[in-house]
Amino acid sequence: MVPPDPNQASNLEELLRFYADAGYDEPLTETPVNRFDERVALSPTPTATQPAISGSQPKHEQRPARVPAAAAVPDEQQAMRARALAREAQTIEDLHQALASFDGCNLKTTAKNLVFADGNPAAKLMLVGEAPGRDEDIQGLPFVGRSGQLLDRMLAAIGLDRTAAYISNVIPWRPPGNRDPSPLETEISRPFIERHIELVDPAVLVTLGNPSTKLLLQTQTGIMRMRGKWADHTTAGGKQIATMPTLHPAYLLRNPAHKKLAWRDFLEVKMRLRGAGN
Ligand code: URA
Repeated sequence: MVPPDPNQASNLEELLRFYADAGYDEPLTETPVNRFDERVALSPTPTATQPAISGSQPKHEQRPARVPAAAAVPDEQQAMRARALAREAQTIEDLHQALASFDGCNLKTTAKNLVFADGNPAAKLMLVGEAPGRDEDIQGLPFVGRSGQLLDRMLAAIGLDRTAAYISNVIPWRPPGNRDPSPLETEISRPFIERHIELVDPAVLVTLGNPSTKLLLQTQTGIMRMRGKWADHTTAGGKQIATMPTLHPAYLLRNPAHKKLAWRDFLEVKMRLRGAGN
């Protein structure tokens, strides 16, 4: 679909609606930025995170001074840095600090806040969703919007609340306009959430929805076939954590008839936790 011509004042309302429908529902800065102009302000000096590139670069490929080089386009090098940083973290707080100071993922430049986790890190139950949405980005906490309210009700249905559960996401920054994270953004985030799970060491892990199930159980099978069956998440250290894949609360808000399936999955979780002394 072609956007309405922005040069015609009469089109402005239509143009805003076009962008809102496409998911661009809030301004990222107070003033508009012409990204094409930024190419003129070029940085000749390589930064610590931006190795010098040998040979002369064509002008249009040089990076603008105002854009942090590491965040401009993530690459496999950033995924390697993420793996090293995550491995080094010895505590959940170390990991939080490492993520807070990591500049290798472009999602950080558009997010308002890092969304690390909520709940009790000593809980026997850990739940992992996909990525923060608008409300989570504003508050810096996972699952605080409509899906989060439903998740709280699902936990309450098995007698738990956030003092007895720990909640995080695969991706710790909101993708702009709630778009799907790219494979590289997921690859960069992966070591952090894997180390997060390893450090929390829950008795039971619940993956909420397709992306976190596929990533953490290393499967290509869809959530409808995976849900309701126990599987194992294997940590980097080789420990197996009992994992229940279930439907994402956002999906359940759109498909309330499927809540009964999630209810069954949560009953399984309740029984397993009871066996683990909860
Ligand atoms: N959906 C998610 O997957 N995570 C959140 O934190 C909120 C909505």
